[in-house]
Amino acid sequence: MLCPGLLRWALLLALGLCRAHRARSRNVLLILADDGGFESGAYNNSAIATPHLDALARRSLVFRNAFTSVSSCSPSRASLLTGLPQHQNGMYGLHQGVHHFNSFDGVRSLPLLLHQAGVRTGIIGKKHVGPETVYPFDFAYTEENGSVLQVGRNITRIKLLVREFLQTQDNRPFFLYVAFHDPHRCGHSQPQYGTFCEKFGNGESGMGRIPDWTPQAYGPQDVLVPYFIPDTPAARADLAAQYTTIGRMDQGIGLVLQELQAAGVLNDTLVIFTSDNGVPFPSGRTNLYWPGTAEPLLVSSPEHPGRWGQVSEAYVSLLDLTPTILDWFSVPYPHYAIFGSKPVRLTGRSLLPALEAEPPWATVFGSQSLHEVTMSYPMRSVQHQGFRLVHNLHFKMPFPIDQDFYVSPTFQDLLGRTTAGRPTHWYKDLHRYYYRERWELYDRSRDPHETRNLAADPRYAAVLELLRAQLAKWQWDTHDPWVCAPDGVLEERLSPQCRPLHNEL
Ligand SMILES: *[C@@H]1O[C@H](CO)[C@@H](O)[C@H](O)[C@H]1NC(C)=O
Ligand SMILES: *[C@@H]1O[C@H](CO)[C@@H](O)[C@H](O)[C@H]1NC(C)=O
Ligand SMILES: *[C@@H]1O[C@H](CO)[C@@H](O)[C@H](O)[C@H]1NC(C)=O
Ligand SMILES: *[C@@H]1O[C@H](CO)[C@@H](O)[C@H](O)[C@H]1NC(C)=O
Repeated sequence: MLCPGLLRWALLLALGLCRAHRARSRNVLLILADDGGFESGAYNNSAIATPHLDALARRSLVFRNAFTSVSSCSPSRASLLTGLPQHQNGMYGLHQGVHHFNSFDGVRSLPLLLHQAGVRTGIIGKKHVGPETVYPFDFAYTEENGSVLQVGRNITRIKLLVREFLQTQDNRPFFLYVAFHDPHRCGHSQPQYGTFCEKFGNGESGMGRIPDWTPQAYGPQDVLVPYFIPDTPAARADLAAQYTTIGRMDQGIGLVLQELQAAGVLNDTLVIFTSDNGVPFPSGRTNLYWPGTAEPLLVSSPEHPGRWGQVSEAYVSLLDLTPTILDWFSVPYPHYAIFGSKPVRLTGRSLLPALEAEPPWATVFGSQSLHEVTMSYPMRSVQHQGFRLVHNLHFKMPFPIDQDFYVSPTFQDLLGRTTAGRPTHWYKDLHRYYYRERWELYDRSRDPHETRNLAADPRYAAVLELLRAQLAKWQWDTHDPWVCAPDGVLEERLSPQCRPLHNEL
């Protein structure tokens, strides 16, 4: 139980109802990057300077096998803030404007549960989830009532908002969610600031100034090109711009942590850093391949210094963050149903035990249905140790490309090279990228780039069956409406379990 206001606190203490040993409150700071990946010293990228993330990593357990369950912005944020995959919380695609996806009204989100348990909640930056009744925050400066550039990329503004949040007479413990808009692309929305808004606030003419930001410039020759990005001048220039915006976020993280330090609460605060989905490059965002789902994840607990600076190999999911934060605040997950009488159960787990000893966790799941409203391409996936299985439910359709990636220099260059028959310097070809097989099985221990589909290889039949069974069980456990969707394959037999699902309606 959490300790309420001072007078009642004394009374409850006398009654023995309050944990007197916890005179100090425990807080949480959740920091989210927007489309960020492994471009940091903390993840061994030596080409980029990220001193603040690297310093945080030295006080964190660093996860190298952390995955989002869905590679799309609003669905990922909704999953992170509910512990439920997109098909269960209802946020099937992007939330804004005409896309208009929302979580179901009955969903009990992390900010809702924490508020009810006496925790003060705040969000600064990009929200991109709704409805408001499902995702209420006591303190909110987001794109809903301000400029996303200001609350998400202007690190001076972010610093001042964190200061305002912390300057309160409120004694409740807090959950503060700082959701940067960096390093998202912006060539589709604000091209005047560069493809990644890397010029916004850099002090050049017309760009304005962010007083706390010292911009770091990178050239195309400076960047490391990951295996899934074409090694071309266009992609290198794109990456160089991305690095500059990551540098701005990194300096912003330093400012945010400095505010907590100055307020005297940093040592009572669990700090978590991660990102919503893969980087906005081919095989990245909107894909359930490794580059689309693997995320940086730093978990820094002042109470668990034993594994600071260590790297965990455990397979963990962003679906684990809601159970982790509830565990940190000792708030139980409620018994309730979203539809009918089937109780909602979290399939993620608290990560706190991993801060003490390396756990044997080996399996994470993925579920994607849309991104933009026009981009229906349902996929389900399971990663079990080195194996990844992806089920493409609409495999006869071309894979949809989202608009801001489509207009990006990297993709336009890839398209132009492909149509002109010039070398693409890419590890795939666009035809294979658009047209995928129904089941894709990769053995990442031998094929880390996921290029050899083993689903039809008889030597992997047992692995395929095991992963399919794991995936189907998770889909049933999480009430996935797509579990009974026919794939359009004539010999297909649906599970007998599908009958009661339809009869219920
Ligand atoms: C970075 O590289 C070192 C040395 O190879 C390795 O021990 C460590 O696990 C790597 N860190 C991450 C996050 O992968
Ligand atoms: C945004 O909403 C918060 C309340 O959550 C309010 O305090 C703040 O003034 C609003 N900001 C703007 C720019 O309207
Ligand atoms: C960033 O925010 C600060 C503080 O609100 C402001 O002074 C500055 O002009 C802003 N910079 C830009 C580029 O908007
Ligand atoms: C931070 O907190 C931990 C335990 O919560 C305590 O052992 C440590 O002394 C504290 N450090 C400082 C600098 O207050």
